Amino acid sequence: MNVSRWPLAGLLLAISVSAQAADPTAVYGKGGANTAAMACVTCHGAEAEGMAAAGFPRLAGLSAVYMQRQLADFASGERANPIMQSIAAALSPEEADAVTTMLANKPRPDVERIGRTAAAQGLGETLALRGAWERNIPECVSCHGPGGVGVGDSFPPLAGQSAQYLSSQLIAWRQGTRKNDPNDLMGHIARGLTEDEIKAVSAYFANLTDTGAGR
Ligand code: HEC
Ligand code: HEC
Repeated sequence: MNVSRWPLAGLLLAISVSAQAADPTAVYGKGGANTAAMACVTCHGAEAEGMAAAGFPRLAGLSAVYMQRQLADFASGERANPIMQSIAAALSPEEADAVTTMLANKPRPDVERIGRTAAAQGLGETLALRGAWERNIPECVSCHGPGGVGVGDSFPPLAGQSAQYLSSQLIAWRQGTRKNDPNDLMGHIARGLTEDEIKAVSAYFANLTDTGAGR
């Protein structure tokens, strides 16, 4: 064995230990090491189920990669939100990785997987399952999955989120304060929707779960 290698191994070990030092439960429940990173639990709820009335989104069961990208976009302002901007900017990369990985492993809400072959009645359900192709608006479930359960790291779940949060995001895209989506996929859709359609489709997805998100 080559003894001269040991100091290097010790150094690498020390680096990897310090890079993994963030405790996700502490970040979620008490905040990041930097005091500007407020405790997530205050707004996102004890089980990360969100707070429907306040419009704070559910984080439990969302993709870690999706959430890490949102945190980076809040920090840079690509997704403009005065509350999350300072919090995201104050998290260290290790804290952001640790807390999002922990949240992604929490249970997702139970959702009936209603796909585009189901019958569609009413404005919200029609948009969700059929889209409005005459205006180049594809059905929401074609990207967000049957029942809006979310698909992979790119298409977040809509089911499990409150109507308040869903409509706030569609309005943010219309107003250009959220513009971090690939190829303006959502910007294009949101700008094509009327106010009534935004309300109806948000209520439709919020009501697909019994988590209280629809209330
Ligand atoms: C003071 C309230 C508050 C605190 C504390 C808070 N958040 Fe948020 N969070 C929000 C709001 C409001 C939004 C929605 C922002 C928007 O409308 O774009 C949000 C959105 C998010 C999103 C995007 C979710 C999605 O579906 O795109 C992530 C990820 C997130 N927060 C993570 C965290 C983490 C991690 C912490 C703790 C370090 C935290 N938040 C602390 C209020 C808060
Ligand atoms: C062509 C694919 C596509 C279609 C169709 C689509 N979306 Fe999306 N949607 C996306 C992508 C991609 C994102 C994530 C954007 C990002 O990375 O920030 C998203 C995100 C969202 C979000 C934000 C969720 C969150 O957690 O912050 C809402 C709300 C939303 N979409 C609503 C809808 C509604 C309502 C419809 C149908 C009218 C729809 N989407 C149709 C691709 C699509």
